[in-house]
Amino acid sequence: MAGKDKLFIFDTTLRDGEQSPGASMTREEKVRIAKALEKMRVDIIEAGFPAASTGDFESVRAVAQAVRDSTVCGLARAKDVDIDRAGEALKAANSARIHTFLATSPIHMQYKLKMSPDEVLTQAVAAVKRARQWTDNVEFSPEDAGRSELDFLCRVIEAVIDAGARTINIPDTVGYNIPQQFGELMRNLIERVPNSDKAVFSVHCHNDLGVAVANSLAAVLNGARQVECTINGLGERAGNAALEEIVMAVRTRQDVFPCDTTLDTTQIVPCSRLVSSITGFPVQPNKAIVGANAFAHESGIHQDGVLKHRDTYEIMRAQDVGWSENRIVLGKHSGRNAFRTRLKDLGIEFQSEEELNEAFARFKELADKKHEIFDEDLQALVSEATMALDSEQLKLVSMRVCSETGETPVANVTLSVDGAERGGQAEGSGPVDAAFKAIETIVPSGTRLLLYSVNNITSGTDAQGEVTVRLEKAGRIVNGQGADTDIVIASAKAYLNALNRLVMPDRRAHPQRGDV
Ligand code: KIV
Ligand code: ZN
Repeated sequence: MAGKDKLFIFDTTLRDGEQSPGASMTREEKVRIAKALEKMRVDIIEAGFPAASTGDFESVRAVAQAVRDSTVCGLARAKDVDIDRAGEALKAANSARIHTFLATSPIHMQYKLKMSPDEVLTQAVAAVKRARQWTDNVEFSPEDAGRSELDFLCRVIEAVIDAGARTINIPDTVGYNIPQQFGELMRNLIERVPNSDKAVFSVHCHNDLGVAVANSLAAVLNGARQVECTINGLGERAGNAALEEIVMAVRTRQDVFPCDTTLDTTQIVPCSRLVSSITGFPVQPNKAIVGANAFAHESGIHQDGVLKHRDTYEIMRAQDVGWSENRIVLGKHSGRNAFRTRLKDLGIEFQSEEELNEAFARFKELADKKHEIFDEDLQALVSEATMALDSEQLKLVSMRVCSETGETPVANVTLSVDGAERGGQAEGSGPVDAAFKAIETIVPSGTRLLLYSVNNITSGTDAQGEVTVRLEKAGRIVNGQGADTDIVIASAKAYLNALNRLVMPDRRAHPQRGDV
């Protein structure tokens, strides 16, 4: 990195990522992801939107307490009440940032805000000044900058820098921009705003046209020195720019970029897995960097080339982004200490002995069925164990499913419902369908199944299947996940996990629609 500028990585998986339908996370899950991001040496972690609800406030506070090395950021609309909530939530942070925003595009000002440009400018300045009463580290975003008028954008940015904003983030909120144009916008802003040297310019792109990463990189080539992004490109609609793609593009093409990040890229794949298993958003196999096929050389010609000389077809090394050969890490005879130590290496620490005991009991159960336990199995197991302790209303006690050629599958399920055991039976078109219907006879949920998918966590027929179920009820969408060596049991667990999430309060309030 000698002689190069630093490119700051601002991760917003816990805020913009959580705005994805069904990606709502609990406080404990947010802390786990934040710790993984810290381990990856992400510079700034946007932990949430504290004014949305008490739950969001508490999550940001918990992340601010847990994280020491990264800056923890809270989002706030340009309103005193939001800014003060963010300031309060971040009090315990070692390094805190308040990110405040206000829309500047004609369409947002006229229809959403119903404010004149002058009113917007005044409110933006007031918001930044208010935030500066809490911290020197204030970021301002002119929302929908990608569709704003250049002259007005320059006026707002100059004024908020004068008011004390030290990071100016340029969002393409609706994913409308195209790389060349967006790069020019960034260059024009930096050139035209007289005090632009007093702030770091940042970029925040959505992927509606599939060019969020390309737009972000164009902005970097034109002077942006912070990128806002999410793990696996998680985010509402088509998502945000994917952290792993930005970081690896810049790292791999140092001949092109005048800057680099200080991230530990070997943490990318473990972090991607963690986010996927917590949110229930599977990673597509052909996804760049973190997809299962990203480094698989299927075709004979490619394999031959790679064997002769790696660079013939490989531009990055799988190990550099954290892909490792599936290593057997633990087995049937591993004890509690080995278990605890291996999890610690994976960045997982238990809040209580009770959590450790629950996870260890599940580990022993799994080791009885599957002799070789990999890191990926451990991640899934810990997700389940912590969820089980999150006072789940519904738990799977036992299940029996009969599936035979020429016969209709039948499932018998026993659940614990608020501590009381109840049983149900149903037929279905297949064993999974029968299991879901049997659960519905016990707890009729009135939900609609939007998605059902199975992925194997590791390879081999004894691998655990990880099932994702997405349910919808009255406009609310939740994801559930379950893992087991038996995919019908994994499916039932995932279904129950989604139902359990449905009864939890919805904290996924939307900062940008004014519906809080
Ligand atoms: O997309 C967007 O404009 C945002 C802002 C809050 C920065 O997420
Ligand atoms: Zn956004």
